[in-house]
Amino acid sequence: MRPVIVVDDDHRTRRILQILLERMDLPSLAFDNAPEALQQLGQESAALVLTDLRMPHMNGIEFLRELRKLDREIPVIVMTAYGTVEAAVEAMKLGAVDFLAKPFDVEALETLIARSLDYARHRSENRFLREQADRAPRFEEMVGSAPAMQEVFSLVDKVAPTRSSVLITGETGTGKELIANAIHRRSPRADKLFVALNCSAIPGELLESELFGHVRGAFSGAHADREGKFQSADGGTLFLDEIGDMEVRLQAKLLRVLQEGVIEPIGSNRRVPVDVRIVSATNHDLAAAISEGRFREDLYYRLNVFCIELPPLRERRADIPGLARFFLAQFGRELGRGALSLDEDAADVLATNDWPGNARELRNVMERAAVLCDGPVVDAKLALRLLPPSSDPEVDAGDEGPFELQAVVAEAERRAILRSLARTDDNKVAAAGLLGIGERTLWTKLKKYGI
Ligand SMILES: Nc1ncnc2c1ncn2[C@@H]1O[C@H](COP(=O)(O)OP(=O)(O)OP(=O)(O)O)[C@@H](O)[C@H]1O
Ligand SMILES: [Mg+2]
Repeated sequence: MRPVIVVDDDHRTRRILQILLERMDLPSLAFDNAPEALQQLGQESAALVLTDLRMPHMNGIEFLRELRKLDREIPVIVMTAYGTVEAAVEAMKLGAVDFLAKPFDVEALETLIARSLDYARHRSENRFLREQADRAPRFEEMVGSAPAMQEVFSLVDKVAPTRSSVLITGETGTGKELIANAIHRRSPRADKLFVALNCSAIPGELLESELFGHVRGAFSGAHADREGKFQSADGGTLFLDEIGDMEVRLQAKLLRVLQEGVIEPIGSNRRVPVDVRIVSATNHDLAAAISEGRFREDLYYRLNVFCIELPPLRERRADIPGLARFFLAQFGRELGRGALSLDEDAADVLATNDWPGNARELRNVMERAAVLCDGPVVDAKLALRLLPPSSDPEVDAGDEGPFELQAVVAEAERRAILRSLARTDDNKVAAAGLLGIGERTLWTKLKKYGI
């Protein structure tokens, strides 16, 4: 254990303090002047510093100022017989944990020492957890340690090297575009372009020209030849976003292009061979669209050689704290607010929310949190304020939840289990510990609730 450093020019005080520390089982080193203590602290950090205020050579405040240059974290207790308000304020500003008037009551000092050490330990544990979260495994620019996301990432790694078409499905904001990008970046086509086209944002005729290009005079408004996205993406990847919104006529044309590997710009009869890998995405149910005649089945099979399904955030709650911290760190940097963090209770609040807008919605909430939080930590109070009111778990349960007690209890149990999994990064043993039940019982409940 690191020592407690005692700095006091009075021999008797030093003795008393050392005896007290020894009784508390704490190793200590005592100095009768600040410069020597600083020299020691420069070599080895300490668990706690107890310092007098009035000392020859260098007084306690100067000492504290120098100490803070070395280490901003060590807790310090300042003791003095000449305590003035100004000195106390100054010491507080320099991050002294406590200020104690001499002659001190031994018991009070003992409590104070124990509390300071406890606080420091807590803080360093939190920092450790934070660093762990920051170091959470990344896949390209994506956060995702939940098993469902790990599966997605490994599928991406398998399909990326091929030139097969990939269809990415998932609710809005689940990260479909990021996955499309990752497929490209991990493919042999990475040095060519990744071209994205949103099929729902562009009306039919224009979309056709966007895809295949046109020659001058092909239609009114076509003042010059224009290259389509297929040609821009030649050798690379074309990402067709919201493919479910493409009109049926264009679907037929797209299918032909995919079969033949050749495009014909509108208004020309020139055939241009293209080598393009297609990744598409949709948040619609394409099977339903097919049965309603809004989507061609043959095109569906062409696009869907591999399917990557992105699970909604509420089905991978273990990822919510990590994602939230990732976004918070990002906005902290962007806004010049330094390292922003999320405390455990706030992480719990976020993890129990339902997130209909998925990662995008969480990102927006964290952006507001970064702007609104007063200090470097986002706490549960702020998190609750930022969530849409209907998604407050308490309100949910009260207003819309079931009434029969058995169902209410089951719902509460399910939420507690999800929270414990989120808190422990999906570690079942640790989660069972938090819940105060055995691991076997937890497994039974996981099965029961389909978690
Ligand atoms: N796993 C993740 N890690 C980090 N950021 C993510 C992750 N998933 C999504 N995001 C972020 O969330 C936002 C939404 O992601 P994206 O645009 O890829 O979603 P989408 O599924 O394409 O949504 P939509 O269907 O609405 O187009 C983006 O800002 C993206 O960077
Ligand atoms: Mg998208």
